[in-house]
Order: sequence, then structure tokens, then C-alpha cells
Amino acid sequence: MSDTAKLTLGDIQQELPVIEGTECERGIDIRQLRARTGLIAYDPGYGNTGSCESAITYIDGEKGILRYRGIPIEQFAENPNFIEVAWLLIFGDLPSEEEYHSFAAELKVHANLDEGMKHQFEGFPRSAPPMAILSAMINALSCFHPELHELEDAESVRSTTARLLSKIRTIAAYAYRHSRGLPYMYPDPKLRYVPNFLHMMFSRPYDEFLCDETVRDAVNLVLILHADHEQNCSTSTVRMVGSSHANLFASCAAGVCALWGPLHGGANVEVLRMLERIHQGKITPEEYVRLAKDKESSARLMGFGHRVYKNFDPRAKILGQMAERLLSYTGKNDPLLDIARRLEEIALEDPYFVERKLYPNVDFYSGLILRAIGIPTNMFTVMFSMGRLPGWIAHWWEQRQNGDNKIMRPRQIYTGRNQNDYVPLAKRP
Ligand code: SDX
Repeated sequence: MSDTAKLTLGDIQQELPVIEGTECERGIDIRQLRARTGLIAYDPGYGNTGSCESAITYIDGEKGILRYRGIPIEQFAENPNFIEVAWLLIFGDLPSEEEYHSFAAELKVHANLDEGMKHQFEGFPRSAPPMAILSAMINALSCFHPELHELEDAESVRSTTARLLSKIRTIAAYAYRHSRGLPYMYPDPKLRYVPNFLHMMFSRPYDEFLCDETVRDAVNLVLILHADHEQNCSTSTVRMVGSSHANLFASCAAGVCALWGPLHGGANVEVLRMLERIHQGKITPEEYVRLAKDKESSARLMGFGHRVYKNFDPRAKILGQMAERLLSYTGKNDPLLDIARRLEEIALEDPYFVERKLYPNVDFYSGLILRAIGIPTNMFTVMFSMGRLPGWIAHWWEQRQNGDNKIMRPRQIYTGRNQNDYVPLAKRP
């Protein structure tokens, strides 16, 4: 197949190089397009534009494939361990026994927040959105670690990663405790990553929350399946901010803000709202699907559709199975799961969804798992952020290591007024 693309426009004749990735994805290299033709490419939403080359995550949207450093995500479901997946994404290989235990020990050491930071939670109203607190406190963390603003080598990235990955749990848990007027529970160094988080979320001073294996595996799996997804909106935001050489804390705080949007990370909250609305009898599943198809309505079948997957989101399949397993284990019969299954059944047989290749995505079942564990809806996107943090760090570090990392600065097509003159106030109509 040709390794150049021929561009013909009027008397412009240009050959543009074509680059190819390790999974045979091909892209026209337009880095010289404007210099050689005076034209730019136009692609609002960047659905047809590659912003970088990356070796971290591979997605095949047509086949419903998702791999972290080449490993299919289905293989992490057996014994889900979020920390080793975080290491894999950031440092490129699964950790050795020594690397894993040394990193896990470092996470224990860094779980506490500086007491000065802890007091900052009191400055937020109890009704403050946890995502606002999370973004603010990740930025605030950088004030307590000025020595970690400039990261030059894998050692300093590992050290900063340990702090961010460990403390995001504590920040998330404290945001929740503050919203409920509950005392903060200090991290317990005897506990592993997820049980320690759930301890800080749900323990009482007189009554420790003990996490059992099924719940621990469910939360590890939710975090793993959210850990990275190549150039999604929030990860591209982290790369965009990081391209100005902003520090890792500031870049991840920006990623939290992008993930907050209901079309991105906030979708699992909207899925629960949709299921609750149907459960309260305000509308039947069939009527809701009709509404989601109606162009006059703003309703969408939340948790369905994806910019990249035009097949099942592989994460949705795994999370759907975990939701069934967790609910049967906890003995809870959640009517919302039945409603979700009914919506999926209707949509998968409806030409509107089939023709548009709209299938369940990662958000369709994740909220049901979190709800079964007792995580409140307003913390769902915070859980998504905890999961996505390793992906943000991995992309930030991959970009920083890339020698020709340029500050991202897209162009535009101007459609405003042509030149006109200033009119003094006294002479304006
Ligand atoms: C995440 O990028 C990532 O990787 C994101 C993510 C990650 O891990 O980071 O995977 C996480 O963000 C998952 C997506 C969560 N969002 C939702 O579940 C919200 C509901 N889904 C949609 O809003 C929508 O599907 C998007 C935003 C996810 C994707 O939209 P696209 O690909 O830009 O598609 P589109 O908006 O151009 O829609 C194409 C057609 C339109 O109809 P027509 O104009 O062709 O008639 O499909 C329709 C849309 O109206 N459509 C839907 C729909 N999604 C698209 N109709 C009803 N319900 C839906 N959910």
C-alpha cells in the first residue's frame, strides 16, 4: 500500500507521508501541510485526527478490542490488581515481584495527607461537588511537594506517582466524609490499596469497615477498566496542559475537570438517574428508548454509544458480569439492574441503535456496581478519576519523554467579521 498521500487542489500538488502503527493503523502525516500548501486540516472534535503516537493503550473500536501495553483487558479480570496495572501503564511492563512490593509499600507510606491539607476540606460547603474538591486538592497537593514540580527521570515520576495514586484515595474519602459531616478516618497501613480506601470511606471510629474479597475485586476491576483509554477527552486534556510543561499535579487536576462532564466521566451518574426515573414509574423502558431516539428530545440513552467503539465496549461486558456477580453475592436484588438489562435488550434490537452502532459503554453498568458497594452517586465520577489517574500519569510522562514534545496549539478557520473600524461611543447608534 502507498506510503504517501497525494493532495491535489487547484494548482497545488503535494505528496504527504503516511505513517503506520504496530497494529497497522495508518495516518496521513500533515505536520508540513500548512507550510507546503497554506491550508490546514479541519476536524472539530478531532474524530479523524491523531494528536500523538503512543505505546500505552490500543483500541480497535470496530472489533471491540482494548489492550493495556498489548495485554487484553479481559486478562486482568481474573485476579484484578489495580496497582500492578497502574505500574504497567506508567512504566511499560508488569512489575517484578520486588518492584510490586516496593511500590505497594511506598503507597502505604504516602496515604496520609498533610494536616494543613486536611483542614482545607473544612473550607468547602458540605454540598460542594466532590469533583470540585478533588481537582482543587490535587492542585493543592503540589503546594506540599514543590520538589516534585519538575520531574526529570523515571525515579522522580515513580515517587510522584506513589504520592498521587495513594493520596487520591484519601482526598476522595475525605471529600465524602466532609459531605456527610463524618470524622476523617486515617489510612490504615495494614490494609491494601482498595480495602484502605473503603476503610477511609465507611469505617467509624468505633466500628471498622472490613472489605471482603468480592467487594475488593469489584472495586479493583472498576478501577482497572477505567485506568486508560488512549486519547479520550480527559487524557487529551492532561496531554494538552502537560504540553506547556505544567507539572503533573496541575495536569491531572485539569483531567479531573474534563472528566466531570456528563458526556464523558459524568455519564455513569446520568445512567443511574435514567434508571431511577424508570424505576420510579415515571416512564417505562420502552417509552424511554423512544424518547432517546426522538430528535425533539434532549434525552439520550445514557451509557450507550461511544466515539470510538462501534461495537460492544469490552469493558461494559466485563462490568455487566461483575454487576451480576456482586449483586448475587451481596444478596441484593437491585431492580435497576433488571431495568438496565431490559434497556439493553430493547436497544440492541432497535434499528436506530443498530444502524448507528450504539452499544453499551463502560458507564452503563459501572454505576450499578458502585451503588451495590454503597458508593453514593455523586462519588461515581470521583471513582472514575481514581481509576483514570494512572492513564493520565502514563500519557503525561510518555509525552514529556518524547523529545519533540511541542506545546499543543491547534489552528482554526476564522468566520468572524472582516476588517472594520472602531466607532467612538458618542457616535454609536
Ligand atoms: C466515556 O473517549 C473515551 O474513550 C471516553 C470513555 C473513556 O473511557 O474515557 O470511554 C468514557 O466518555 C464513555 C461515553 C459516556 N457518555 C455517555 O454514555 C453519554 C451518552 N452517549 C452519547 O452522548 C454519545 O454516544 C457519545 C458522546 C458518547 C459519542 O457521541 P459521538 O460518537 O460523537 O456520536 P454523535 O454524538 O455524533 O451521535 C451519532 C448519532 C446521532 O444521531 P444522528 O444525528 O445520526 O441521527 O447517534 C446518536 C446521535 O443523536 N446517539 C445517540 C446516543 N449516542 C449517539 N442517541 C441516543 N442515545 C445515545 N446515547
